[in-house]
Amino acid sequence: GAAELGPYRHYMQKEIFEQPRALADTLEGVEGITPELFGDGAYSVFKNVDRVLILACGTSSYSGMTAKYWLESIAKIPCSVEIASEYRYRDSVPDPRTLVVTISQSGETADTLAALKHARSLGMEHTLTICNVATSAMVRECKLAYITRAGVEVGVASTKAFSTQLAGLFLLTLALAQVRGHLTDEQEAQHLKAMRHLPVALQAVLALEPQVVAWAEAFARKENALFLGRGLHYPIALEGALKLKEISYIHAEAYPAGELKHGPLALVTAEMPVVTVAPNDALLEKLKSNLQEVRARGGELFVFADDDTKIESSPGLHVIRMPEHYGALSPILHVVPLQLLAYHTACARGTDVDKPRNLAKSVTVE
Ligand code: G6P
Repeated sequence: GAAELGPYRHYMQKEIFEQPRALADTLEGVEGITPELFGDGAYSVFKNVDRVLILACGTSSYSGMTAKYWLESIAKIPCSVEIASEYRYRDSVPDPRTLVVTISQSGETADTLAALKHARSLGMEHTLTICNVATSAMVRECKLAYITRAGVEVGVASTKAFSTQLAGLFLLTLALAQVRGHLTDEQEAQHLKAMRHLPVALQAVLALEPQVVAWAEAFARKENALFLGRGLHYPIALEGALKLKEISYIHAEAYPAGELKHGPLALVTAEMPVVTVAPNDALLEKLKSNLQEVRARGGELFVFADDDTKIESSPGLHVIRMPEHYGALSPILHVVPLQLLAYHTACARGTDVDKPRNLAKSVTVE
């Protein structure tokens, strides 16, 4: 009810603003990296796997896609990510030395549960879930678990569950890296320090809300949008597009920016806003030339750029400055303004933000 909402207009807005607290709670009690964060027996499970298979649906599949970048670059373990509803029905080549990781806010999504059973039926017994509900079927069905502490999520469009899943998946990456000999004590300490600083860093990003509100006015009049990202921010672009579709009903698509020239550039006109996630990482120079391709076709750019990228506003190029680059954990910060953009665009269009048409919070039937 209204009392629970406090100063917020919708649960979605409240849940976006709860993210500093949700991250702090999810990381509470993590004193150091150890496989046992995931349950008794995790060490021997992690010792006996050579690959990771992530199974999830919707927003949870995008946190999985982000984790693939972390797992391969930090833990140096091969990872594939599959949409649960596809995996369960296709012929695949099972490997018993696979860590099967399901990701689910509710822990009750029928497709993800069925995909997990399917993996087990193929002889893959090493199962782990990143889940927000400790009493859920998913947690009961998996050998190992990390329970995110986002708290109850009411808005159908997932926000705080996503960022806390990323935190859980980063811990998993570090634990696997440690067991595989790819994490020095010094690296462990640095990563933990960066994780503990996330709540403060998130507050700084949430303070950008008024600037995002100003952009939302322009967005509310559009019927299409493109989202671009590269590397581990490509899944963040996908999540931004999904949020906009779900609650504002604006058609949105996400592309890895280097793929623009292979198709979506044909869609770029002055009527197509192009939202870009621009962290100051190794792909920045490539991303800048992708942005020029869009400008040359008259496309209007809306860029979330890290402070140190030196991307400046100019006609047709709008920039919101993010706090300094946050390294491997940057996706947890960059998703927040995209959540806010979808939220405020939906408000400007007057949609039912917390209960978008045709969608359910938890899909417990196929
Ligand atoms: C539904 C929700 C999404 C969610 C997806 C997976 O489609 O509307 O927000 O991402 O289910 O849910 P889960 O609970 O498994 O994360």
